[in-house]
Amino acid sequence: MLEHLARKWSRKEKQSVPAELDRSGKIPQHVAVIMDGNGRWANMRNLPRVAGHRAGMKTVKEVVKAADEIGVRYMTMYAFSTENWKRPRDEVDFLMKLPQEFLSTELDELVERNVRIRMLGSKEKLPAHTLKALHEAEERTYENQGLQLCFALNYGGRDEIVKAFSVLASKVKAGELDPEALDEEAVSRYLYTSDIPDPDLLIRTSGEIRLSNFMLWQLAYTELWFTDVLWPDFTREHFYQAIVEYQGRARRYGAV
Ligand code: FPP
Repeated sequence: MLEHLARKWSRKEKQSVPAELDRSGKIPQHVAVIMDGNGRWANMRNLPRVAGHRAGMKTVKEVVKAADEIGVRYMTMYAFSTENWKRPRDEVDFLMKLPQEFLSTELDELVERNVRIRMLGSKEKLPAHTLKALHEAEERTYENQGLQLCFALNYGGRDEIVKAFSVLASKVKAGELDPEALDEEAVSRYLYTSDIPDPDLLIRTSGEIRLSNFMLWQLAYTELWFTDVLWPDFTREHFYQAIVEYQGRARRYGAV
């Protein structure tokens, strides 16, 4: 049954990859996404903000399938920032339930697609039920070799860097690390993304042109792509448009 579903999806998806997208060309290995605009999407419909988040969850499903179809290896979705705790209690509670809701309906298909689920962020303050759902999904998909789907949850770029520096400082103090040996690679080793390549492409929806404390270290040479489309309205066509534009960019990493 699941195999049948996956085949059905895969047939549909192949038809919807636009001709301008060069599938044998430059496909970003890692796409990071700031999924913004859920609240405004709901407001425009006189719905509670959480309805926007639920609609946003559906977009996550679509975009992950679209990415998998063209061979993206890593997707990092900004699902909850270290600053999002300042939101009303009801909204925070709702957002904390979304990973388990998402996984309860999607995990079988993701397993069928060979997707590996990962969580990037601080486990402090996260409710037990959220951690349990993510931990179970991480365990179940640990050996999967396909797309790595990372949820940045209780994630803050500065917090991540501070935590890495704290580990490095203790190592220096304990005499395990020579301060002279401190380099970019040493810092990267203690980030949540220690074994994940830096994003090639960052997508942010909803017309906001900022990074909002997302992957500050890792985005140093990432191509940025912004759209006015609100996250719940974002479709696989928008996603492929971002990839086509990425394919037209020249990445020089500071060289000429
Ligand atoms: C920002 O929009 C969005 C978030 C803080 C939450 C994003 C979460 C999802 C899209 C669902 C995640 C799904 C899973 C599977 C974990 P906003 O609320 O700030 O929008 P606004 O700027 O219009 O108010």
